[in-house]
Amino acid sequence: MEIIRTVAWMKEYARAARAEGLVLGLVPTMGALHDGHTALVARAKKECSRVIASVFVNPKQFGPKEDYNKYPRDIEKDAEKLGAAGVDALFAPEATDIYPDGFRTYVNVEGISERLEGRSRPGHFRGVSTVVLKLFEIVQPHFAYFGRKDAQQVRIISEMVRDFNLDTEIVVCPVVREPDGLALSSRNAYLSGEERAAATVLARALVAAKDELAAGMRDVLQLQDVLRRVIEAETLASLDYAEIVSADTFEPVVRVSRACYAVLAVFVGKTRLIDNLYIEPKAQGADEFTFRL
Ligand code: PAF
Repeated sequence: MEIIRTVAWMKEYARAARAEGLVLGLVPTMGALHDGHTALVARAKKECSRVIASVFVNPKQFGPKEDYNKYPRDIEKDAEKLGAAGVDALFAPEATDIYPDGFRTYVNVEGISERLEGRSRPGHFRGVSTVVLKLFEIVQPHFAYFGRKDAQQVRIISEMVRDFNLDTEIVVCPVVREPDGLALSSRNAYLSGEERAAATVLARALVAAKDELAAGMRDVLQLQDVLRRVIEAETLASLDYAEIVSADTFEPVVRVSRACYAVLAVFVGKTRLIDNLYIEPKAQGADEFTFRL
């Protein structure tokens, strides 16, 4: 696996690979890699002839009181995992190369970026969209792979791709979970033993909502109540938000009647975790749904 440390080198590598007629797949990450990331790589390997992973802890998507400085970083371990997963090139630039002195151009996907995660983490999605656009410009991938755990992020990136006519296709991959349901996340590393046990509360709440939906509950206030009750019963957990939103706009809905997400953000101790349940009509306009946790 080639380890590429500069923007100029990455552009040259990508240009040469495209000229050879290779299909480029990009897996953007902030490192601290887990099996969720390697699942993205596995999917990219199936669909592309050259797989590039980026590891860049993007300062622009962290708020001033967030965990940018303590975000787990171990580039050697990450490189080992990516090499073993069959990645062809690792792009690991310095922040000063991505954001040189005088950097002042940002991308903001309006509306959707201000809701939910954007409301709790002002400026977060502006940082995400900006760095993802830069990565797409540098690598020019045919396909880019993202996990559905960050459902709002993927939606925002898809809107940006459409609005800017980018030639990258976004591939959304399933959430990867621990056997007890906890969605894999780099931030799980912050949890103490007790908190780790309590963190299953997110998946438990979503399963409770799914069971009610399967039994016919469609009223969003009732469904949100189900989510809240499960979270509130867990003493180490405190709720940031529990909402049912349109899968398209991430605006709240009053009844589940089309594709929606049940979305959760919960503090377990000091660690903020997110998770979601994708609720999809079995057929257009049908009142029967399939559920993806
Ligand atoms: O999901 C992430 O890890 C980050 O938000 C991303 C997409 C790599 C942008 O920094």
